[in-house]
Amino acid sequence: MDALLAVEGLTTGYGRKQVVFGASLAVRAGEVVALIGHNGAGKTTTLKALAGLLPAWQGRVVFDGAPVERASSAARVRRGLAFVPQEHFVFADLSVAENLELGAFSVADRRLAAGRHEAVLTLLPVLAERRRQLAGTLSGGEQRMLSLGMALMMRPRLLLLDEPSLGLAPLLVERIMETIQDIVRRERLTVLLVEQNIRHALAIAARVYVMRTGRVILEESGAAMAARGEWWDLF
Ligand SMILES: Nc1ncnc2c1ncn2[C@@H]1O[C@H](COP(=O)(O)OP(=O)(O)OP(=O)(O)O)[C@@H](O)[C@H]1O
Ligand SMILES: [Mg+2]
Repeated sequence: MDALLAVEGLTTGYGRKQVVFGASLAVRAGEVVALIGHNGAGKTTTLKALAGLLPAWQGRVVFDGAPVERASSAARVRRGLAFVPQEHFVFADLSVAENLELGAFSVADRRLAAGRHEAVLTLLPVLAERRRQLAGTLSGGEQRMLSLGMALMMRPRLLLLDEPSLGLAPLLVERIMETIQDIVRRERLTVLLVEQNIRHALAIAARVYVMRTGRVILEESGAAMAARGEWWDLF
């Protein structure tokens, strides 16, 4: 398979505690792929290892044809691999615009960063209306959009998105999923999306991996997954 991201036998954990036991998955360019599973299955831990925020103990991570499992997180960002964390990651005392500038830290050319600023505000109009507002005074959903905007400032090719719907009201979940889909189309982006809610994931993902206790136990098309009557027996 011609994958933008290929992960083979990834193991990792915290200190001596192993959390991920040989996870393998692949994401082709232009795809939205979901990684789903219960609380504590190891989804966030897997994304952190892919982003270089946790060392891979074993296994290979190939991004755009090059092995990156030993690369620093900054080097992975420069290659176009960006991570949007599950927890809100915005600087509360800075404005929306200043947060976006920080998101552009790895854009070497400042003129490119300035152009990017306008592009990101076009993709996320809710931020444009609030560009002077302090990030700490944004609602939860708006802070999610800002974290996404900060990652988009680097013009990534692949986004690792950790539960963008977490804690949002159903209407906002729909809106953020539509926004992600819109950005994927307009920016030719590829996404590995972590979700706990299969229904939310299936709204935009063409393929799904199911993770349980640190292992990828199933890979299926979104259509096949949607056709299943009952999902909970998967976990
Ligand atoms: N910093 C840490 N130190 C030690 N153990 C951790 C740490 N972070 C997570 N864990 C453990 O690793 C396991 C997997 O956690 P992880 O956050 O990857 O799960 P998850 O699938 O993302 O769950 P959720 O859906 O709740 O976000 C859990 O047992 C958790 O307690
Ligand atoms: Mg998580």
